[in-house]
Order: sequence, then C-alpha cells, then structure tokens
Amino acid sequence: MSKQGKRDFRPNIHFTPEKNWNNDPNGLIYIDGIWHLYYQHNPNDVVWGPMHWGHAVSEDLVHWEHKKIALFPTKSYDRNGVFSGSAIEKDEKLYFYYSAVRYLEQDEENIHLSKNDQFETSQAMLISEDGEKFDNWNGKKQIIPVIRDEEIADARDTRDPKVWKEDEKYYMVLGSTYHGKQARVLIFESEDGENWNYKSQCRKETYGHTMECPDLFKIREQYIFVGSPMGIQNDGLEYANQSVCALAKFDVKAGELSLPDEYQMVDYGGDFYAPQSNLDKDGRRVMIAWMRMPKPVESKDGIQWTGMMCLPRVVGIKNGQVTFDVHPNVKENFEEIDLTKVVLKLKEKQPLWITTTLSEGEELEIGGYEIRLEDGAVVGNRGRVFADLEGYHVENQTPKVGKSAKLDIFVEENLIEIFVNDGQYVLSHVVYGLGDTLNGKIQKVRVLK
Ligand code: FRU
Repeated sequence: MSKQGKRDFRPNIHFTPEKNWNNDPNGLIYIDGIWHLYYQHNPNDVVWGPMHWGHAVSEDLVHWEHKKIALFPTKSYDRNGVFSGSAIEKDEKLYFYYSAVRYLEQDEENIHLSKNDQFETSQAMLISEDGEKFDNWNGKKQIIPVIRDEEIADARDTRDPKVWKEDEKYYMVLGSTYHGKQARVLIFESEDGENWNYKSQCRKETYGHTMECPDLFKIREQYIFVGSPMGIQNDGLEYANQSVCALAKFDVKAGELSLPDEYQMVDYGGDFYAPQSNLDKDGRRVMIAWMRMPKPVESKDGIQWTGMMCLPRVVGIKNGQVTFDVHPNVKENFEEIDLTKVVLKLKEKQPLWITTTLSEGEELEIGGYEIRLEDGAVVGNRGRVFADLEGYHVENQTPKVGKSAKLDIFVEENLIEIFVNDGQYVLSHVVYGLGDTLNGKIQKVRVLK
C-alpha cells in the first residue's frame, strides 16, 4: 500500500464498501421509508472477482448502514457471477432481476476469470419479502435463457436488466452488442414481471461496441435514456467506457426505443460509470453511480477497499438538455462556516461543500486539485493528487458554458464532484492524497452539521 493511498478516516458522505471491491449500484429502490442500495461486490479481495450483490440501507441517501450480502452464486447458470440488475416493488414484495454469468472455460491461473472471454449470460430473478432476506438456494428463477441467435442478442454480452412498470405492464431494457462491434439495447415486456417476451432492439453505431447498464425513464413526458457504452473513446487511456444520456423516444405499445446519434456525458470527469436510477418519495429521479478507482485505499483500521459511489443526483431537463444536480438530502446535511476556518477543515479531512463563481481565466485550488475556467469550459486537473498513476486522465473538461460558471464543489478525501450551474454539467474526479491548501476565489463554504 503506497503512502498516497493511506487514509485515516472513511468518507462520510459517499458510500464505500465495508471492505474489498465494489462496482455498479444495483437494485436501487426506496421502500417503506428506506433506501436499499445493492452493489456489485467481490467480498474476497480489493479487485474485481466473482460478483455478489452487497447491500446497504439508508433513510436519507447519505448515511448508509451495511447489511449482509444479498445475492451470491448458487446455480449452474450464475455460478461465475451475479452481475448487475435492478429491483421493483410488486404485490408488497421486491422483485430482483440480474444477469447470471457462467464461464465456458476458466482461466487456469485465476478461476474467477474466464479463459479467452468465453462465458455466457442469461437473465434471472429472485423475489424477496423485504429486500433483506434472500433465498439464494431455492428462490432464483432463470427468466431469459442464453439467447444464441445473434440477430436477437449476444450469447455472452447481453446484460444488466433494468425493469420498470408502465401502463399496467412491465418492461425491461438490456444492454448488448451486435457481433462485438455495435452497441444495442433490447426491450422485453411482461404481464406479470416473471414471464418475459422479446419486443425489439435498437442498434446504434455511435454508442461504442457494447452497451452496459441501460436505463430508461420519463421526466415529465420526456423519455431519457442513460447507458454505459464500452469503447466510445479511443485515446489510448483508461476508461474508454463512459456513461452517456440522451432524450429518447419510446413507443410503449410497440415496445420500441429510438435514440438520437448524439448524446451527452452524464459526468465529464471520466471515472463515473454504470449509473442506476429510481424515484424518491417526492417523485424525483435519483441517480447513483460507481466511481472507478484505479487502486485501493486503506482506512485507519487497516481495512482496504476499492470503489465508491458518487453523491446521489437528481435528473432533470432544462433547455432540452439533461441535468444532474446534487440531491437536496445531501445539501441538508451541510451548514455554512466562516471562510477562515476552511483550511482547518481540509486538514481534518472534513467533507466540504464549496460554492464559487469562476470567470474566464480564474482558478481555484483545493488541496492540490485545480479547477479553472478556460475557453469557456470548466477544467478539473488532478495531476498533483492522483499520485503516479499512468494511463489515466488527469485533466478533463465540460463543454463550453460561457464567460463565467457557478460551481458547487463537493470535496471529500477520495472524490471531488463539481456541479456546474446547478447541474448543467458535472465533472467528478477520484483523487488520492488531497492536501490542505486552498487558493482562489471562494464565496461560501459549508461543512457537515
Ligand atoms: C459494468 C459491468 C456490468 C456487469 C458488471 C459486472 O460495470 O461490466 O455490465 O453486469 O459490471 O460486475
């Protein structure tokens, strides 16, 4: 463990696994006053491995309590991984949908990887009374067996069922690929949430080679598609896979989706991936995503973990563009402090919410992380707080926003999230070894209450 990765406290306002590895959020749902967050989890190590669903609960999306592992491999069809999926409420129960992975050949040196990517994927479900008790042995049901007709789906790369109810029917979107070259999204329909029929598919050349974690929902009467295509950037750096969103058309009766060729990035920082959304009690569309971390961190008690979740965001539409602002529950946890005390709070590694307006050419530096407005775009640079990690972006920027931009910056030990103009754009960066310096224009600082 390098010194950079050493930390002496756990993030307060960001979800992290209790230990070891997490990736995608799964089955995010608010039920009986409680948020359930499940997540892709390798309970054995700090790297990706045999996928389980970890589980945590929260009343406010900010304070999380860890629960025992929800889903784990038990069946021949899911023996190598319970991959990503979603949850709905039906008949006072929770229905969970996931992708079940079975390797056709194992890597001899690491049985948790498939040899030459030889695996197949089916879709499965499990009904739980309360989202806490899961019968992994007798409760699972394979609902969509491996599809071997490439014209319909790819036997290997078809995954991440997101299910919702609309007009008295149930719909499912699945991410897939066409011959490993073109992203596609499949639509299935069901009368009862258990028996599923294939409806249609939408192939897109501009959305990379494979779609992961698709999500489709309405804000007012407008459908919004969110997905995580693989291979949309090819600049030789890590993370050519990025989450995108677009205003979509969905014909409910026909079960047909159409997507525009162009899309926005959900977050412009490059670490954000595999978001999932659901409604909160006030009908807001809440989104949480995995923040990819290139190496583990170690807490004071010697426990290592890799991966965290971004702050819960609220999806909106403004001027024909999809917006992502931080959820009001997060903001409610903060209170304003005297500006002179900020450096102290940085020293104490307290989560901060910093508000400022940058004009063209102006810069702000927080613990070694630099933010500037350059040629009308907000630029975030983590060069000094990302250690010696080669092959990753150190600098990213938003599209042009104009001559000045209002920034709400949420800073915590391993993550900086910059919300531009109340969610017009977001740029988030994973960081390691944030310092306690602060330079530049700041209007307001808030700390946790
Ligand atoms: C996205 C993803 C999903 C898959 C899961 C496996 O990060 O690759 O497509 O279900 O992670 O952990």
